[in-house]
Amino acid sequence: MIGVYDSGVGGLSVWKELRALMPAELFCYVSDGAYCPYGPKDPSFVVERAMAVSRFLLSRGAEIIVVACNTATAAAITTLRASFQLPFVGMEPALKPAALRSQSGVVGVLATAGTFKGRLYLNTLARFSGRVKVIEQVGTGLVELVERGELQGPGAESLVGRYVRPMLDVGADHIVLGCTHYPFLTETIAKILDGRAAIVNPAPAVARQAQRVLSELRSRTGKMEPAGKSGLSTFFSTGEDTVLRQLVRQIAGPDADSYLYHSLYII
Ligand code: DGL
Repeated sequence: MIGVYDSGVGGLSVWKELRALMPAELFCYVSDGAYCPYGPKDPSFVVERAMAVSRFLLSRGAEIIVVACNTATAAAITTLRASFQLPFVGMEPALKPAALRSQSGVVGVLATAGTFKGRLYLNTLARFSGRVKVIEQVGTGLVELVERGELQGPGAESLVGRYVRPMLDVGADHIVLGCTHYPFLTETIAKILDGRAAIVNPAPAVARQAQRVLSELRSRTGKMEPAGKSGLSTFFSTGEDTVLRQLVRQIAGPDADSYLYHSLYII
């Protein structure tokens, strides 16, 4: 079973890619909505949540855990790897592909405050900041928009526009989505970009990495790959789950009816 976790519904953008790539697998997704957003919170709090959720996923039988949250990856991935035996796959700040593909030499990164302070991001920035100019923007309020299910419309356009237009104004030709909630705003972002810049979403690459890690683990331990196409997903939410159910349905269609949804109070 693959454990997937985020501060809320954002990690569903990663689960979508994982499920597409590994349709026979079992998934257990935790949305830590009671504590969302993580972005402005102290890293030590985010580590505490990551530890609690990981213990829970382990108790459910997770073989690997995908930390489908850039902020939690930034704060907690090192502690998680040092504390548990199972493999963790984290979010990569997709600055590298954007920097390598940029023609204009200007790249915009939209992420949370916590992600920009993380060592992973700072190391990547140090590697590529000689090659491209990087415009960083904290997407204050965007996570809340997605959590409310407000993915389109004037409110979403105005907030997204406030962050993305200044990047276009200085010539950015790639916009990196450094938070797993933001892919749900893709249509709104694309409307503002109007073809002037490409959107870079690291989720498909993270899903491929998770597949590699899982198959290496299974070949080491002699565990069988599941057969067929009957993968099942179970969703646990520490907060309200109406929007989560809507997004799962949007992604999975009628399969969403066979999935299980639970409230989670214990952590
Ligand atoms: N999806 C989380 C991320 O990728 C959202 C962070 C938050 O809760 O503020 O960073």
